[in-house]
Amino acid sequence: MKKYFIRTFGCQMNVNDSQKMAGILKSLGYEPARDWREADVILVNTCSVREKPDQKVLSALGEYKKIKRENPNAIIGVCGCLAQRAGYEILQKAPFIDMVFGTTNIHHLPQLLEEAQKGNKAVEIIEEIDENETELDKYPTVRENKYTAYVTVIRGCDKKCTYCIVPTTRGKERSRRIGDIIREVQWLVEDGVKEIHLIGQNVTAYGKDFGDVKFWELLYAVANVDGVERIRFTTGHPRDLDEDTIKAMADIPQVCEYLHLPIQAGSDRILEAMDRGYTQKEYLKKIELLKKYIPDIALSTDIIVGFPGETYEDYLETVKVVKEVEYDQIFAFKYSPRPGTPAAHMKLTEDYQKAGQWLSDLINIQKEIAFKKNLSYEGKTVEVLVEEEKDGKLVGRTRTNKLVHLEGEHNLLGSIVNAKITKANRFSLEGEAIKETV
Ligand code: SAH
Ligand code: SF4
Ligand code: F3S
Repeated sequence: MKKYFIRTFGCQMNVNDSQKMAGILKSLGYEPARDWREADVILVNTCSVREKPDQKVLSALGEYKKIKRENPNAIIGVCGCLAQRAGYEILQKAPFIDMVFGTTNIHHLPQLLEEAQKGNKAVEIIEEIDENETELDKYPTVRENKYTAYVTVIRGCDKKCTYCIVPTTRGKERSRRIGDIIREVQWLVEDGVKEIHLIGQNVTAYGKDFGDVKFWELLYAVANVDGVERIRFTTGHPRDLDEDTIKAMADIPQVCEYLHLPIQAGSDRILEAMDRGYTQKEYLKKIELLKKYIPDIALSTDIIVGFPGETYEDYLETVKVVKEVEYDQIFAFKYSPRPGTPAAHMKLTEDYQKAGQWLSDLINIQKEIAFKKNLSYEGKTVEVLVEEEKDGKLVGRTRTNKLVHLEGEHNLLGSIVNAKITKANRFSLEGEAIKETV
């Protein structure tokens, strides 16, 4: 049997696309390789959100190139956001690549592969969105985790945050029809999935392009599918997160008490320069509403440090918000200019040199907050979905998305159990399964 190896960079959208590509390859009779060295097809699914991932892709390709010595017929393909943005450039830098395709052409993988296997360069990068892109939806995903699964509900992004490459690489917002989403959720549940994770670059904009359906209605529809025990969604945008959605989150038993709500910056001046469409006060109002309706909600966020023109005073506003909200987790990065985005033309001031230090200070502040949050779990009993077994221990997540290492029987795999938390670590919890609840 021929084998494939897929390397995935970037966000949940890329992870899901890779799972779909694995589904396509499986339907063509391929099986997963344990290692890239034994693969007949290597796919590199790329991210371009910052400069670092761009560089990582090129160094990974340098490594995978070696496969051609052992197996000259092996195919190397590059797809994802960097391929969409700069596919021809990559092909010039790495001419050994056999296949390059963009973010809306993934469903053409079978034809592209056939072309590449004939010895031709198979390239498909189109700027418009492929009108048949939803063909991809009919393939089942191949997932590592048996009990939780991503479901794409909206593609692309209509926001124009000035630092962000995503609208260029993923195009305008396209929601999936509710019926198609529900059908996929049903397949997954039949396959043993307990937790459905709805994904998109901006899921809270779901349905805006149709005009007759809202995101909160989708939440109810997914919750109504028999067998769905947990629901999560990523990413919500503070501008589109409305009270109806927050009420639905509180009202639907399966929606977990956890939300990732990117703030990006605390300073109103910087938020405006980023074109985020809200002020610090408006953002904090949403957080207040979330905490009002869902008192035990866990929160996380994305932060950019060192945006053009950001001063130390601006940065301190971000620190202030981090301390006030008390996030469970933050994903903070130094600003990275992206070619073609409006912010790429904004001048970086001397302060940009200090942003690395600011970033590490911020991360240290957050470490303490997160540890304190974890410590508050000690002695509590919480619900855990047992997702896998590793080194003789069960590993799962709480509804609040905390990783838990559990003492318990193997047969608890895939079930939701009550667990008593015995110890809090910086990045995870330890506990004992009490009894099966579902
Ligand atoms: N759609 C999501 C996330 C998109 S990209 C949202 O709107 O929040 C994921 C994260 O990468 C962003 O939230 C942002 O924090 C970060 N990011 C995007 N562009 C960046 C850039 N040019 N430099 C540094 N970080 C960036
Ligand atoms: Fe990028 Fe902004 Fe869209 Fe998020 S909302 S993907 S940060 S443009
Ligand atoms: Fe990266 Fe593309 Fe996701 S740029 S963050 S893989 S949408």
